[in-house]
Amino acid sequence: MTRPTLLASPRIKLRVASTPSRGHNEGVEKNSPETDALPMTVPRFVALKAAKRKISMLTAYDYTLASLLDSTGIEGILVGDSMGMVVQGHGTTLPVTLDQIIYHAEMVGRAVKHALTVVDIPFPSAHLGTHEAVRSAGRILKETRCQAVKLEGGAEQAEVIAALVSAGIPVMAHCGLRPQSVHLLGGYKVQREAERLLADAHAAADAGAFSIVLECIPADIASQITAAVSVPTIGIGAGAGCDGQVLVTYDMLGLTEGYVPRFVKPYAQLRETISDAVVHYRDEVRSGAFPDEKRSFK
Ligand code: KIV
Repeated sequence: MTRPTLLASPRIKLRVASTPSRGHNEGVEKNSPETDALPMTVPRFVALKAAKRKISMLTAYDYTLASLLDSTGIEGILVGDSMGMVVQGHGTTLPVTLDQIIYHAEMVGRAVKHALTVVDIPFPSAHLGTHEAVRSAGRILKETRCQAVKLEGGAEQAEVIAALVSAGIPVMAHCGLRPQSVHLLGGYKVQREAERLLADAHAAADAGAFSIVLECIPADIASQITAAVSVPTIGIGAGAGCDGQVLVTYDMLGLTEGYVPRFVKPYAQLRETISDAVVHYRDEVRSGAFPDEKRSFK
């Protein structure tokens, strides 16, 4: 279904402006186009599955990009620990700290007016016992304007998911390929154990997760899981049968240098565009063509 962007409709713009603040629209239960302009909440996000509305999510790590993504009307923005790779230049997501992700989530949370904003719990904060997990996730919600956390794990993290949910912290689980376990898995590999994947998804949903990311699993298994659980599945390298999709924005915009996973579709080639612009600027500075009179003061 083609959806108008928020900026394309003056009426929708007006409704965004008149919404006092996120989280104060509990009376809204329908997910009709009439409510598209209202801030996304966890219940509305979950209801998109029953309404058969596909969910789009992308990652953001700073104010400018988050605000741009949010203006398009996508339903979710993830402050992913992928920032360890695409922003910080590490080879894995493991070095990202809680303080760092909170620093970035705070910028994103300040920019986002519409989408549901979810923040990764970085390694190993979700594995230090339920008390520490609640403390870490609690800091994320207290110190940013984001509304939910994402946690890698399924069955073995059910107790932690339940503890977070009972503390009032919405949890998006992350099953299949778990990048924080890259060394245990021996690389970023497609996960194919259908029974275990299904059990993980069931355990996460039963523990109270409001949504589940399915990363790098065969499309038929992802479709089975999607049919089996009542909460939305968000796929990345998991085929079209999921309730929604998420990608690392730098990858899908063609900004990432070097290897990009096969499941990423490049919707733009911004590396080339930016590089061309910068070379043009450099040449004009060298030749004296920039700044011209229009851009100088008398
Ligand atoms: O860290 C991240 O960006 C993620 C998504 C790619 C799912 O976990």
